[in-house]
Amino acid sequence: MNLSVQLAPKNRRGLLLANSVMTASGTFGYGTEDDHPFDIQRLGAIVSKGTTLEPWEGNIQPRIVETAGGMLNSIGLQNIGVKALIKEKAPIWAKWRVPVIVNIAGKTIDDYTRLAELLDEVDGVSALEVNISCPNVREGGTEFGADAKSASRVTAAVRKATSLPVMVKLTPNVGDITCIAIAVAETGADAISLINTIKGMAIDINRRKPLLGNVTGGLSGPAIKPVALAMVFEVADAVDIPLVGCGGITTATDAIEFIMAGASAVQVGTASMINPHAPIEILEGVEKFMLDEGVDSITDLIGAARC
Ligand SMILES: Cc1cc2nc3c(=O)[nH]c(=O)nc-3n(C[C@H](O)[C@H](O)[C@H](O)COP(=O)(O)O)c2cc1C
Repeated sequence: MNLSVQLAPKNRRGLLLANSVMTASGTFGYGTEDDHPFDIQRLGAIVSKGTTLEPWEGNIQPRIVETAGGMLNSIGLQNIGVKALIKEKAPIWAKWRVPVIVNIAGKTIDDYTRLAELLDEVDGVSALEVNISCPNVREGGTEFGADAKSASRVTAAVRKATSLPVMVKLTPNVGDITCIAIAVAETGADAISLINTIKGMAIDINRRKPLLGNVTGGLSGPAIKPVALAMVFEVADAVDIPLVGCGGITTATDAIEFIMAGASAVQVGTASMINPHAPIEILEGVEKFMLDEGVDSITDLIGAARC
């Protein structure tokens, strides 16, 4: 049975994954924490927490609220900064079998360029995921992902600054996600990941105030799965580069749905916070489905629900 997928077929360095299951940025730290209940080397890839040029403290508390079928977060890209990541995390990743994709975010296009340059030749970094879709930061973030022109400008700048495979992560908080997908595919993205969280909020009716310190946050978890799935299905029609599906994936069935919609791989996010075994259970479930159905290669399932 062949589970491997190539996420950057046109890139000289390539991004070959042993299987289609990876972690979603911000929900699995740097993968270096030693409290994982399973062998993370078995996964297709690990995606790091969103990383900026300087360390960021993130937004004011409270930053997490549970909702029906999901959660709202307004972490605001709290992270250690790229220098610490290169010094402390990358040397650990360099010894791993599982590839690590570094998620980058900035306030300006120059920030993205500088991050891509700094990470270009770092041992242990296999690809970049360009976050132009964070709803929880005031500058940059979603702004870049909200219109095709600025999404193109960031993609082109990162493309020029690195030979690493570049995956651009899209926001669902737009009118037509396919326009943004086409724009980033045309300006050098090797792959597209979608979706980031959906903007939302909750109100404490006793205090008569928003529950999140940042007022609004990003909705994630099972509640957003149908939205994410439809977006993957639509984007798969619009571009011919690999897609990575994300949004509410909690079970192997969810993952297979995204693959059948056109995703080559999937990211597991909020599910890991509810069940730390989720990524490995999803991988094992996909393997079992393939065995039961007599599917030899995962590539036979990619886009299978499209006609
Ligand atoms: C607590 C938390 C932190 C996150 N941090 C990031 C981040 O740093 N960069 C990013 O691109 N996405 C971030 N995300 C978005 C996830 O990677 C993912 O796109 C989103 O949660 C949808 O997937 P899910 O429903 O499986 O969680 C974060 C999500 C959560 C819940």
